[in-house]
Parts: sequence; structure tokens; C-alpha cells
Amino acid sequence: MIPFEISEVIELHELGDDRGLLTVLEQNDSIPFEIKRVFYIYKTLPEIRRGFHAHYKTRQALVCVSGKCKVFLDNATRKKDVLLDSPTKVLILEPNDWHEMYDFSSDCVLLVLASQLYDPQDYIRDYDKFLEVYGK
Ligand code: TYD
Repeated sequence: MIPFEISEVIELHELGDDRGLLTVLEQNDSIPFEIKRVFYIYKTLPEIRRGFHAHYKTRQALVCVSGKCKVFLDNATRKKDVLLDSPTKVLILEPNDWHEMYDFSSDCVLLVLASQLYDPQDYIRDYDKFLEVYGK
């Protein structure tokens, strides 16, 4: 099912004691899909904007485990910008969320969990095609 509402940042629990902090990402709990792939984006220059795509099938969860960045989202109905500036904030991207990441801090490590193996055919990189597939 493709949701109408645009994705929200979800606050994760921080488990802490006098040794430090720990946050959990668990399949079918904070992550609402089976995790098939993990990658991370880092050492992105501050002026760089990347992403510029949506998917047919892939769902993703984004967490800045270090530093911060912003994400522009467009689900063909609504658009918004979100700030990921804490390892306790996760953004779940649905397949129909066109996304662009920008304003990376120099220490940003953006962790991405994905529901599908890497498949270039699952990418929609052309914005007009995105509107054709997901626009009303
Ligand atoms: P790309 O999709 O351009 O990154 P972004 O969406 O952040 O702008 O990916 C960069 C390169 O890495 C590109 O050559 C494809 C490759 N890649 C993989 O091989 N496997 C993966 O899981 C991902 C996400 C990218």
C-alpha cells in the first residue's frame, strides 16, 4: 500500500547507563520491514545534494548515526524537509518518497537500512517518470 501521508521522523529510545548510550534498530519493531541491505553515506561535501530518486519497491530507514543532514521529501502529493541531527531519529522512506539529502555536516555518517537488495531497475531517477508513476 502506498501511503498518502508523507513520512515523519520517529524518535527512538535511548538506552543509557554510566557506560554510555545505545539505540536499537530492530526489524519489525522500529524498522517496519525485513532488512536486506545496509549502507552508509559519509564524507559528503557540505555543498553536495544527492539522492534525487524514488523507488518502485524499496523501503528505507535513514539515521544519522553521527553528525547531521537534511532530507527533502516529495511523495507527489506533499513535500517537506526534515532534519536528521541525532542517532535517535529515524526517517522511514516509502517507495514513493522522492528524496534528496543535503546540508551534510563534515562528521555526518548517514546509515541506511533497505528492504531490498541493490537493483538499479528499482530506481526512478527521472522526476517526470516519478510523477507519471505516483502522481494523481
Ligand atoms: P547513488 O544511488 O548514486 O547514491 P545517492 O542516491 O546517495 O546519490 O549510489 C552511488 C553509487 O553506489 C552508484 O554507483 C550505485 C552504487 N550503489 C551500490 O552499488 N549499491 C548500493 O546499495 C547503493 C545504495 C549504491
